[in-house]
Order: sequence, then structure tokens, then C-alpha cells
Amino acid sequence: MKRLQPWIAAIALVAVFSPLTAQAGDTTAAAQLTLWQAQAGTAASAERGKVLFTSRHGGDLSCASCHGTAPTAPGKHASTGKVIEPLAPAANPLRFTDTAKVNKWFTRNCKDVLARECSAAEKADVLAWLTNQKP
Ligand code: HEC
Repeated sequence: MKRLQPWIAAIALVAVFSPLTAQAGDTTAAAQLTLWQAQAGTAASAERGKVLFTSRHGGDLSCASCHGTAPTAPGKHASTGKVIEPLAPAANPLRFTDTAKVNKWFTRNCKDVLARECSAAEKADVLAWLTNQKP
């Protein structure tokens, strides 16, 4: 059999790995935190983020109802029972790396829990708490 030319091997490698890098997304948790703090015009507070996340806001659900109170551990969806991977980037490096996903779920989940969208300041607070976690 003919030996594979090095450039063919290189193309094959790129083809194999590019879907993985594409999956890694278009942003980072640190970039999202900087953006939301700038929009809010105030520094984020991890302590406020923890309170927002673990409290109920007039309805039956808190964020922790589905995500759990320890963001480095998996959660369990309150109605479907499905496992939800940890939200803290220290435990799950894919979190907050895809702008569209972050915005979609923040919008949906804040409406479920607070009956409105979260403000930039609230999102910054939650993210400050999540990025504070150690693995
Ligand atoms: C009814 C269940 C439920 C509640 C309550 C809930 N979430 Fe979620 N959340 C989900 C599911 C399901 C996903 C998508 C699955 C996944 O990403 O693992 C998700 C995804 C997310 C993501 C996506 C992060 C990323 O980049 O991957 C964020 C951020 C998030 N939730 C924050 C919150 C916050 C903040 C609250 C409270 C205001 C909250 N969630 C309440 C179920 C819930």
C-alpha cells in the first residue's frame, strides 16, 4: 500500500478536529462577565448572584430547582428529571462559550423563575458566583 502523503494526513487531522473547535463556541465566561458588567455599569457581586440563584422569586421555582445548589455538581430538571450538567465553568468548560446558547437559556430560565428577563446586572452577579467556584 502507498504511504499516506503528509499533507493528506494534515487535511484529515483538520477535518477531524475542526468540528470540535467549532463546538467550543464564540465566547468565554470571562468575556460574558465583562460584557454584562459594562452593560450594567456596576461591578458584579458573587454574593448577590448566589442569593438570586438559590432563592425563589414569587413562583415555585428557583434556579437551583433544576441546577442544584452546588454549581459544580450536576442538577436535575424539576419537571422532566433529566440530568443537567454543572453550570460552573470550573466543572464544565463548555459553559458560557456559546453566546446564542447563553442568551437563549438565560432568557427562558429567568422568565420561568422571575417571570421576566434578568437584567445585565443580575446576569453578571450569577456569572460572578458561577466563575468563583473551584472544581
Ligand atoms: C425548569 C428547569 C430550569 C430552571 C428553573 C433553570 N434552568 Fe437553567 N437550564 C435548564 C436547562 C434544561 C438548560 C439547558 C441544558 C444544559 O445546558 O445543560 C439550562 C441552561 C442554562 C444556562 C446555559 C449555560 C451555558 O452556557 O451552557 C444558563 C446560563 C442557565 N441555565 C442559567 C439559569 C439561571 C440563572 C436560572 C434561574 C434564573 C435557571 N437557569 C433556572 C433548566 C433550568
